Amino acid sequence: MNILVADHISNKGLDILDKAGAEVDIKLGLKPEELKSIIGSYDALIVRSQTKVPAEVIRAGKDLKVIARAGIGVDNIDVKEATRQGILVVNAPTCSTIAVAEHVFGLMLALIRHIPEANDKLKSGIWAKSEFVGTELRGKTLGIIGLGKIGKEVASRAQAFEMKVIAHDPFVSIDYARNLQVKLVSLKKLLKESDFITLHLTLTPSTKGLIGAKELALVKPTVRIINCARGALIDEKALAKAIEEKRIAGAAIDVYCKEPANDCVLLKYENVITTPHIAASTTEAQIAAATIVAKQIVDLLNGKPPKYAVNNPSVKK
Ligand code: MLT
Repeated sequence: MNILVADHISNKGLDILDKAGAEVDIKLGLKPEELKSIIGSYDALIVRSQTKVPAEVIRAGKDLKVIARAGIGVDNIDVKEATRQGILVVNAPTCSTIAVAEHVFGLMLALIRHIPEANDKLKSGIWAKSEFVGTELRGKTLGIIGLGKIGKEVASRAQAFEMKVIAHDPFVSIDYARNLQVKLVSLKKLLKESDFITLHLTLTPSTKGLIGAKELALVKPTVRIINCARGALIDEKALAKAIEEKRIAGAAIDVYCKEPANDCVLLKYENVITTPHIAASTTEAQIAAATIVAKQIVDLLNGKPPKYAVNNPSVKK
């Protein structure tokens, strides 16, 4: 059993593979061409979000049986091609729910209490006490786009802050939302009524650019937008224009259309807080991601069914 680990994962996951007697190679930072040239000798590939796994890499994986995503989003993997090639894709959909939900509140509070700017000023020797007057979360409306695992945890935390929570999600029932004390609304209504908007949905061809110029034209000028899901859900140029023209109050962004995002247009605005795709980066979440995928690989290679299969290919070998 030869396993290639192409992104950094927790040692706890590596220990599981080691105990199962697997041969594990750790090769980080591979470009698709490099990955393509070596993938032929592996049974399993483990990635996080940095390594791209396009169709040509998958076709070159002659012995590949499973591609494991130590995390949730599989938009860096050509899942359709994996299915065509009889290769299973698995992920760890429960690993970072809490980490991401907590990061959302870190960002929201940082935005409305001006924490990054206040910290910068004080450390540069300026006691700007009267400059940083914030607002409170209590009584404000939070619009959650995507009421899945993470959206649900964001909702309950928002309720603890005494926020009113509305959500848009065409895939959940009114009863499910009602049990969470969340009102389901159309995207248009959510955009118009929210004081904060947070995105928690996967990136697919139909969700790409979900928030663009047309949608940003509907929001309150005081709205703050938080994106810890996927960068391409928001049209970054349209968001930058809305910030520039003061049509929104601010944004907090963890994910970008292109990562690493060193030249992203959003980095230059003071009222945009940016973090480098770290919402899921807690010790707990990363241990969970690595152990969940490692156990699935071991199970699979021992002929047992995977717990979190993303696709359902006819097995090739
Ligand atoms: C995920 O999809 O699991 C998160 O975005 C975290 C990551 O990719 O590292």
